[in-house]
Amino acid sequence: MIQVRNVKMEDLPELMTIENLCFTKEEAATEEAFIKRIQVIPDSFFVAEEEGRILGLVNGPVIQQPYITDDLFQEIKANPETSGHQSILGLAVSPAFQKRGIASRLLTHIEKEAKAKKRETITLTCKENLIPFYQRHGYINEGVSNSEYGGVTWYNMVKKL
Ligand SMILES: CC(C)(COP(=O)(O)OP(=O)(O)OC[C@H]1O[C@@H](n2cnc3c(N)ncnc32)[C@H](O)[C@@H]1OP(=O)(O)O)[C@@H](O)C(=O)NCCC(=O)NCCS
Repeated sequence: MIQVRNVKMEDLPELMTIENLCFTKEEAATEEAFIKRIQVIPDSFFVAEEEGRILGLVNGPVIQQPYITDDLFQEIKANPETSGHQSILGLAVSPAFQKRGIASRLLTHIEKEAKAKKRETITLTCKENLIPFYQRHGYINEGVSNSEYGGVTWYNMVKKL
């Protein structure tokens, strides 16, 4: 059975493996960035686990502005108790376990937690090919992002909570 739970530092090696399988070198979070996120925002960093193995992850800090900015990939602060916008900096599922609804489970989980903490929206950036995926989850395409992360074009996708 797949369970979604908060991240722990001991998950780090498996998280790095998934991140590097899912993203290019330019896009993948560094180990340093993951350590920081696990330390600073464990309350908005979740993993999907099955029989002790990590299959996917979702994470991002709560921010005060409605859209993701590139500085967040370097520098994050602890989440406020309530309010703000829940960003998603990373959503990734191990390739062998994709198309089983695991990303959808992770999205549902982070949304439920964000709603309980009275966040205004979930905000993320995605590439063009994933716009329909997020639209099916209720996200609105708010156009091209200012982000130059990884040197590609990103779209701002926002879901009101
Ligand atoms: C995107 C991703 C997280 C989806 O994980 P998943 O567990 O397979 O997702 P689900 O099973 O919940 O949903 C599958 C849907 O994702 C969408 N999807 C996944 N990869 C896609 C791609 N390359 N192009 C277009 N749509 C894609 C499809 O809508 C698919 O639905 P389908 O099976 O009917 O085609 C996973 O493919 C992944 O880790 N990709 C690499 C990293 C990435 O791009 N992350 C998103 C950053 S914004």
